[in-house]
Order: sequence, then structure tokens, then C-alpha cells
Amino acid sequence: MIKLSKLAAAVALAVAGNAVMAGEVEVLHWWTSGGEAKSVGELKKIMQAKGNTWKDFAVAGGGGDNAMTVLKSRVVAGNPPAAAQIKGPAIQEWAAEGVLANLDPVAKAEKWDELLPKVVADVMKYKGNYVAAPVNVHRVNWMWANSAVLKKAGVNGTPKTWDEFFVAAEKVKKAGLIAVAHGGQNWQDFTTFESVVLGVGGAKFYNDALIKLDPKALTSATMTKSLETFRKVKGYTDAAAPGRDWNLATAMVIQEKAAFQFMGDWAKGEFTAAGKVPGKDYICAAAPGTANAYTFNVDSFAMFKLKDAAAQKAQADLAAAIMGTQFQEVFNLNKGSIPVRLNMDMSKFDDCAKLSSKDFVATSKTGGLLPSIAHGMAVQPAAEGAIKDAVSQFWNNDKMSVADGVSSIAKAAATK
Ligand code: GAL
Repeated sequence: MIKLSKLAAAVALAVAGNAVMAGEVEVLHWWTSGGEAKSVGELKKIMQAKGNTWKDFAVAGGGGDNAMTVLKSRVVAGNPPAAAQIKGPAIQEWAAEGVLANLDPVAKAEKWDELLPKVVADVMKYKGNYVAAPVNVHRVNWMWANSAVLKKAGVNGTPKTWDEFFVAAEKVKKAGLIAVAHGGQNWQDFTTFESVVLGVGGAKFYNDALIKLDPKALTSATMTKSLETFRKVKGYTDAAAPGRDWNLATAMVIQEKAAFQFMGDWAKGEFTAAGKVPGKDYICAAAPGTANAYTFNVDSFAMFKLKDAAAQKAQADLAAAIMGTQFQEVFNLNKGSIPVRLNMDMSKFDDCAKLSSKDFVATSKTGGLLPSIAHGMAVQPAAEGAIKDAVSQFWNNDKMSVADGVSSIAKAAATK
């Protein structure tokens, strides 16, 4: 009896010991499509292999607006998750609230300053301290195309300009297929919009209009041309587009129902998950007129201040894992993005990722490397949200004149 009770005490002690060692990480994200779920599953595996418990906090909704709403209510209630997918200037806003944890101990030990491009590191820091860990680099200005559909429609090669694009789109339409697979949700409209603005106006114009929010650029003839082009693209989408999720639009291209999709390279994660091969089944090409530019979208996890020691330890493990070579490779192979960590071996990556990697470096030297406004990289969330709504109102209302569209977008850009 005595022996048994001693054993029970020992077991209880060991269990308590484990509880201190292994912590739980609750991670808020919006990665729920096939390719996304596979990718985040890899992070979960790595965390579990370190003995931690993964508490998944997935909030469906591409682009993350739903996730951000849920996050706000959790933080206001004083119960934040350990980590949340927060990007770009929004990281600074959260840090200014005093709710984010200082990740410098991990960042210093793992030498993040040496492993990250400075433009990225700066966004992850608040007042010089790391408060977020970057995951990847997504390129937004892509056009995805189904090779078999193009062949059926008699389209040779991928269109390089918007004029060429509309010729190709017309052929696809005549062949009885959908030219542009689109999901009519505001962030998807905005994703297409930024590629059109970049293609029509070029990198300098994109910078003036959508990063600096210069009223002159926003009301210029180039913006008028951009909106005309944007509306013309809509003419090649199908009637069922409103409300459709982005991954279902990608599925239309995968299943040979549609020719093109304008979407960041998380779409490639869907092609990969479906076993499709770039260059054979599908084509990745820069959106028309944007080959010399690169709109980037860096996913990152900001970490919240936690009280429990085991949870803090698990959080530090998560930050270290995110920047580790194992995660950076396997996650990005599935996600469609490229590693954010510099000097990674790219041999396992496909041609689209290699092109992305090459263009990321090349455009960083020419001024063509630009933050994506549609994906929270370029401006403060308030202005971004207002512009996004104005863009969608124009997209959805064919009766609104281009002049009215231009002025409502310019007005929205002044939102503070
Ligand atoms: C983006 C995010 C990507 C992808 C996409 C669709 O904002 O950066 O990682 O998840 O939304 O959900």
C-alpha cells in the first residue's frame, strides 16, 4: 500500500513536471483551404515534435477580415491567443496597444537580424524589439492559367499586356468557357484591382497612388484608365462569382472550367494540393504589364503577452520554429510562397517559386518591389478598409461611372 501511494505521488510529480515543461500554443490563423490547411499542419507537427500542444484557432475567411474581428474580441476580453496571424502595419498598431510580447531573446539567439531582409525585419519590430515572426513571402501580382483551356480556346502563350489579355479572354469566351475565375469578395476584388493598377500604371504609379495615397495620382488619367481596365476584366467573370471563395475560383481553373485567375501564390498551394504541375497543367505568369514588378505579402505571427511560464516557453518554441529551416522549407513548398529566411536552399521548389525568388531580389534593386495594399502591407488598416470597400462598390455596380469610382476611391484613401 505504502509502495503504491509512493508510486502515485511520483507519477503525480512527473505529470506536474511535464505540465511545466510542455506548454500549449493557441494559434489564430485563417488558413482553411486545402493548400493552406496542409501548410499550417506542418507547423503543428513541428510544435508537437517539440512536446508542445497545438490549439488550433482557425477562423475561415480568405484575406483574414473575419479572423481580425474575432481576434479583437478575444484581446478586449483579456484572453488573447499565444500567436495570431497579423501582418504589415497592423503589427505596429497592436504593439502600440501594449499587448504584444518581446521576442528579442529568441530573435537574438537565432540571429534573425542576419537571416531576414531588412525591409521585413523592420515590419516585425516595434521600437526596435521583435514582436512578430515572419513566415514567408507571397507574391500577389500573379496570373494563373490552365494550359488545356488556353489550347482549347486557341490562345498561344500567356498574355503579357492588358490588350493581349482581352484578346485571349475573348477567345476563351467564344470557346464557351469562363475567361476569369473570380471570387466576388471585397479582398479578392481588391487583389485584382492592385494588379490592374500596377499593370496599367507601372511601379512608380502604384507607389504614388496605393502606397503614398497621393491625391494627384489617385485622381489622374492613369487611375481612370485603371478603373476602365478593371471593369473590363469584370466583363469576363461569370454570373456566379459574387461571394465565391478564392479557392473555389482556383478550383475552376484546376478543373478546366476557367482559363485565368488573378490571385497571389497561395493559389499555387491549391494546384499543388491537387497534384498539378506548373509548366504542364498550369502556368504561372506575372499579371499583364507587371513582369518587372513584385507586390509582396509577408505572412507573420505576432505573439501576445502571456502570464503562464509553460505557455511562454511554448510561444518561444513557436517563434524559433517559424524561422527555422525545416519549417521554412516544408511550409512554403505547400503554401505556394517562398521562404522569408535568406539563403535557403531552393532546390526542392518549383519554377514558379524560383521565378518569385529571382524577381524578389531583382525588383528590390529597381524599385519594383512593392507592398501589397490588398493584403495589409502598404497602408494603415483604416485607409485600407475604406479603399477596399470603395473598390468593391465600383466593381459591383456597373452603373457607377468611372469618374465616380475614381473620386470615391480617392475620398476613401483620405480615411485616417
Ligand atoms: C492572404 C494571406 C495568405 C492567404 C490568403 C488567402 O491575406 O496572406 O497567406 O492565406 O490571404 O486566405
